[in-house]
Amino acid sequence: MQEHYRFAGFMGRRVHLGICGSIAAFKMLDFMRILLDADCMVSATLTDAASQFVTPLSFEALGASPVYGSMFDPKSADSFGHLEPGEIADVMLVAPATASTMARLAHGLADDMLSCQALAFNGPVIVAPAMNPRMWNASATQRNWALLKELGFITIEPQSGLVACGETGTGRFADLIELLPAVFKALSPQDLAGKKVMVTLGPTREPWDAVRFWSNPSSGTMGACVAVAAWLRGADVTVVHGPVSLDFHSGIKQVPVQTAQEMFDAATGLWPEMDMACCTAAVADYRPVPHGAGKFKKEGNDNGINVQFENNPDILKTLGKQKADHQRLIGFAAETSSCRDEAERKLVAKNLDLIACNRIDQAGSGFGVSTNRIFVLDAHGRKEQWPHLKKTEVAWRLWDHLLLA
Ligand code: C5P
Repeated sequence: MQEHYRFAGFMGRRVHLGICGSIAAFKMLDFMRILLDADCMVSATLTDAASQFVTPLSFEALGASPVYGSMFDPKSADSFGHLEPGEIADVMLVAPATASTMARLAHGLADDMLSCQALAFNGPVIVAPAMNPRMWNASATQRNWALLKELGFITIEPQSGLVACGETGTGRFADLIELLPAVFKALSPQDLAGKKVMVTLGPTREPWDAVRFWSNPSSGTMGACVAVAAWLRGADVTVVHGPVSLDFHSGIKQVPVQTAQEMFDAATGLWPEMDMACCTAAVADYRPVPHGAGKFKKEGNDNGINVQFENNPDILKTLGKQKADHQRLIGFAAETSSCRDEAERKLVAKNLDLIACNRIDQAGSGFGVSTNRIFVLDAHGRKEQWPHLKKTEVAWRLWDHLLLA
């Protein structure tokens, strides 16, 4: 799991997995490890059909506790296993969900351990189906799916593509990257619900000739953490990103760009419909005046080269100028010297509500690492030097800070 999904705030929360009979069931072993890696506690129930594909022992051995099987298992010490997850777990994830389990959940049937546990579960229940496309498209399945939504289940759509039986269509089990955000979101306060949030992130790439460009080492991690944190808290999130190697789950809208000018056009185009924006992108302030068409040849140019640069537009400053009363704007500043003075100057110069300044000359903060040291200043004059934190935690606190301000 990439760094921008590694939120520590879910430590100790209990996730109950309901696993049904599907060839995709083995993927839940991997997913359970992702949850354990996030310091969540995991319990699991395997339907009889699921046990034909993966064994309860595999889940136990990898750390699920307890693991429930069939309802009347004589080996089971507990007679109230069908009620237990509802009492101790914070969220239940039924995945992969088969057509029959979906039908049970939709109609309130309670004829196996998993369906009893789901019926007795007061917290959020997430359902991620996997099945043959013809089974998925069947009217009964579609009606049950709509019913599950209506009943308040959190639903993760199956994907389209080649399925295990060799047919192509909708019914593939969602990628694991879709599952973790859904679980974390179900455990998060929805204090950004109804807000539209834009995040700029990553470097920009300014071409000089057909093969060479001017850029910087930004990985986009800080912005990705800010975007995912906002999404987990209920916001409708769009990221405008330069060239980065980051995966986002499908809930986050992406606008990929290359140059600062493209990022400017995209961000200023989206801004009027946004409630909030956070500009974390490391935008190239200057772009080389292009050499011309094609590749610059080094033959005959042995004495070095002179490259001329021209200004790029300042995206954040432009958003600040256009900011309406209801809009909130966060900027970042990457500095190699005093953060405090620069933060104060930029907060005013760019008309920001909040600025987060990080030193890029210190180990463990700035470009390409998973942690940051941030000095925060807001428009009310509140100043805070935050401790050395993971970027996910910095992102979470930034939204806390903005919501309090
Ligand atoms: O002035 P400085 O470049 O240090 O400001 C950094 C902040 O401004 C960051 O939030 C960055 O994303 C944003 N910025 C921008 N467009 C630029 C330069 C910086 O949006 N051309």
